[in-house]
Amino acid sequence: MTDTTFTPRVFSGIQPSGDLHLGNYLGALKRFADAQDKGVQSIYCMVDLHAITVWQDPADLKKSTRELCAGFIASGIDPNKSILINQSQVPEHAQLAWIFNCVARMGWMGRMTQWKDKAGKNAEAASLGLFAYPALMAADILIYHATHVPVGEDQKQHLELTRDIAAKFNHDYGVDFFPLTEPVIEGAATRVMSLRDGSKKMSKSDPSDASRINLTDDADTIAKKIRKAKTDADALPSEVDGLKDRPEARNLVNIFAALNDQTVEQVLADVGGQQFGTFKPALAELAVSKMGPITQEMSRLMADTAEIDRILAHGATQAREITAPILKKTYEIVGMVG
Ligand code: TRP
Repeated sequence: MTDTTFTPRVFSGIQPSGDLHLGNYLGALKRFADAQDKGVQSIYCMVDLHAITVWQDPADLKKSTRELCAGFIASGIDPNKSILINQSQVPEHAQLAWIFNCVARMGWMGRMTQWKDKAGKNAEAASLGLFAYPALMAADILIYHATHVPVGEDQKQHLELTRDIAAKFNHDYGVDFFPLTEPVIEGAATRVMSLRDGSKKMSKSDPSDASRINLTDDADTIAKKIRKAKTDADALPSEVDGLKDRPEARNLVNIFAALNDQTVEQVLADVGGQQFGTFKPALAELAVSKMGPITQEMSRLMADTAEIDRILAHGATQAREITAPILKKTYEIVGMVG
């Protein structure tokens, strides 16, 4: 079977875990928005069922799901062009996940590094859902026969597992039903690091709020955080090589390039030789001009969540036009009477 027998379709998911930041924007949301006009049908999912594999306060989960949806829209995902859903509102995800629980092997799941990291030494106390997490992720993707899945490097192993599940299903039932999905892995340039420590990823769990730019920060806060970002004492280099062993300088240049749709080479050609005293205000201005409208739109959407809820309900209706026939066919293949 070749993947080309399937129409190209993009699917990606993000956990609604609250506190969206610049790393989520540049690493995922902005890339999704930039790809939107390529004419490929795209589905973006808030994976609320994945979120509860670890404890979530119900009120927080609702808020985070809506906030994530607002983040997608504010970043430029147009609900008239792409399908925006929350996972639990499209029941076929969980239904296909059960079938995949019966296809995937315990050994495969036990080898997942994310499981090992998250369950840690006390796997006995982890939820069964956390162990089965990657089978639900495979279902998210394959219930759409999605062919392309943009994700971060840390999700590569889960996508390989998705291919293994599709291949085993096709083999066991003697069909060519599920596509072998292509990972579209984000480049290092879009990996945004902490503003306080250039060797750590920007993260919502960093205790220092100054380490990240939140999608809920106002313009003044954004500018202040950039002006206070950690740097070294040297001027900026004119060549990429000169960023070696300068993680903070590299991070700020990366952020500038990503926000301005330039390559790092292009940025350095312009700013090489500048001191941070000159570069940081320019970056702050750029960040405010690009992020300001996004954070503003997020606050507008969060002020009246009825619009978000409508968009998600509409997305679910559109999604189910794709997922219901694929689940029906899957049940037929497996031998369910219906
Ligand atoms: N596991 C992904 C993450 O933590 C989120 C996710 C769930 C996902 N289902 C997906 C990503 C399907 C891509 C496709 O980032």
